[in-house]
Formats: sequence, C-alpha cells, structure tokens
Amino acid sequence: QLARNQYERMGSDVTMQCGSLDNDASVSWKVNGTDVKAQHHLEGPRLILTQVDLGHNGLYSCFQNPNGERRDTINLRIGISPREPIVSCRSNTYPKGFYCSWHQQHSTYIPTTFEVDVQHNQRSLEVLKDSIHKNRCHVRFPEVFSIFPYKVNVTAISALGKASSTISFEESSIVKPDPPERVTATPIRYNARRLEVSWQSPATWPDIDNFPLKYFLRYRPLIKEQWQHVELSESTSHTITDAYAGKEYIIQVAAKDTEIGTWSDWSVAVHATPWIEEPVQTTSTTDTKTSPIPSSNAPHKAEPPVGRAAKLLSFFSPLLLVMLLLIM
Ligand SMILES: *[C@@H]1O[C@H](CO)[C@@H](O)[C@H](O)[C@H]1NC(C)=O
Ligand SMILES: *[C@@H]1O[C@H](CO)[C@@H](O)[C@H](O)[C@H]1NC(C)=O
Repeated sequence: QLARNQYERMGSDVTMQCGSLDNDASVSWKVNGTDVKAQHHLEGPRLILTQVDLGHNGLYSCFQNPNGERRDTINLRIGISPREPIVSCRSNTYPKGFYCSWHQQHSTYIPTTFEVDVQHNQRSLEVLKDSIHKNRCHVRFPEVFSIFPYKVNVTAISALGKASSTISFEESSIVKPDPPERVTATPIRYNARRLEVSWQSPATWPDIDNFPLKYFLRYRPLIKEQWQHVELSESTSHTITDAYAGKEYIIQVAAKDTEIGTWSDWSVAVHATPWIEEPVQTTSTTDTKTSPIPSSNAPHKAEPPVGRAAKLLSFFSPLLLVMLLLIM
C-alpha cells in the first residue's frame, strides 16, 4: 500500500482521514512507526492535530481495531503558501534573446513549480527552460529595436496555492554583456613602468561585428585604494605606461554594448608586477644555492671552499704525519 501525500498549511489544524472508513470505525494511529506524541484527538477514523508545524511531518498510518489491520498511510507535509516570486530578466546575448530568473522570497518547504508566460505585442513568446539552472528560462527576441515592451509573468504553484509576479520592460533596459574573459597582464622586458593587458570579448556575446563592445579598464597598485580608469574603443588590449616600478598591480576590465550602453560587471581580477631589473650579484648567489649538485663542467673556482680545503688536507696529510712523528 503506497503512502499518499497530504499537504497542510503551517499553523493550521489538520484532519487526517483513515481511508474511507465509516464514522463509527475505531482506529489507532502511529507516526513513523511509533505512537503519536503531538497534541491530537481522535474522532472515529480521523486524527486531528492542532497548530501543526514542521515537527508534525511524518508518515502516519492507521490501523483498524480490534484486529489492527492497516487501512491507510499518509505522508503529512507541512508547508506555507507560495508568495509572489522575485523575477529579473537580462540579455547577455543581445540581439539573440534574453533570460529570466526567479526565486521565492522564503522557503515553502513543499514542492513548488513555476509557470512562465512572456507576452510581447499581444502575443505569447516561446519559453525554453534552462537545462542547468532550475529557476531560469530563455526567450528569443522576435525582433530587434522593438518599441513594444515585454511582459513576463511568473507563477509559483504548490499544493497550498499559487502566486504570480509580472514585470514589464523595454528591450534596451535589460541588455548587459558578460564581463570580458581571459584577462592577462604581462610585464614588458626592460620596461619598469609598463604592463601589457589583453582580454577577449565575452563568449556569450553572439555578434561582436554588428554589435561591438567597448571596454573599460581599471588598475591600481595593491598598496593603494584609488583605481585609475581608461576607457577604450573596441580594442582588446591596452598598455599601462604609468605603473610604479616594482609594485604589484591589480587589473580588471568591463565591457559595454555600444548601441545600448550598459556596462558588464568587472572581469576577474588579475595581478601583475612590471619588469624588475634583477641585480647580477643576487642572481648568482641564488643560482649556487638552488642547484644542489654542482655541474661537472663548472669552473674550478666555483667549487665550495670546504671541498678545496679537504683536498689540500688529504694531499698534505702523509707529510703532516711524518712531521708529527719526527717531533715526537
Ligand atoms: C518522522 O520522520 C521524519 C524523517 O525521519 C522526521 O523528519 C519527522 O520529524 C518524524 N516525525 C515525527 C512526528 O516524529
Ligand atoms: C499570470 O499568470 C497566471 C497564471 O497563468 C494568471 O493567473 C495571472 O492572471 C497572470 N497575471 C497577469 C498579470 O497576467
């Protein structure tokens, strides 16, 4: 016998009916296989719980007296009614389409599904569920530079009710590219004040030729709070020429659609330090320290002084021995 679900509102009084037994039937109830400890009373084949909360969730079974035959199993699930979902839409693939996402303001504790309806110029547009994000869907623009607003209605539906939110927007107000990708910053050899920064347009932006992006660069040395900004045209590289020598920099890039003009978020931050002339002495010390085995063709003078002393000692030791013997 399969359990059936019974969904009830938090705070309400709940009546569970044991199958279709008559009013004069006598039954006993168990929850999760043990006696019902929560406040309750019995009315023939009915169990009544008062002011239920999440603690009342459980698998309730009823057994007919006197022989104790199981008559019903109910999975009681306490939840709250859905509220108006929060909806937002964005086009990071202009002019192909846009996506909308939504979320509940609070958990409803029970399964909730969503219906999405998108209207434009008095017709419904096709809505595709996102394959990865549960609460997201995709819509294609039926036309570009449309003067009609889009109306998106999202309805949350559960066993305890439904609630919908509608938002309305112009095509241009939702365009926002993704940040530029693969940002790199590299020092330029023999130049202590330059950093070469390059990046790629966001891969999601579908038609960079007809809908070009402009870029905005910001950079600062780690030790300073103040950013320096450079606004660029469609180029995907820039050379910083005024970096402080020897200072580590943090660099980010943002993209802007040139038609509509909304900025992306900042890209991931990259770190770089301009080229530093390394003093020759420091380099050689580091070299000998880091190479554990002296190479065989290394010049003789590079041999550690201890080795040379040891060699000298071994050469002279028979002589020393003879001298010592003579003294004695
Ligand atoms: C019944 O078991 C479930 C799952 O273990 C638990 O969450 C629930 O609180 C239990 N219900 C009662 C009334 O003990
Ligand atoms: C949104 O959709 C729901 C469900 O289809 C419907 O009941 C509601 O009237 C719609 N709201 C608006 C403002 O269109």
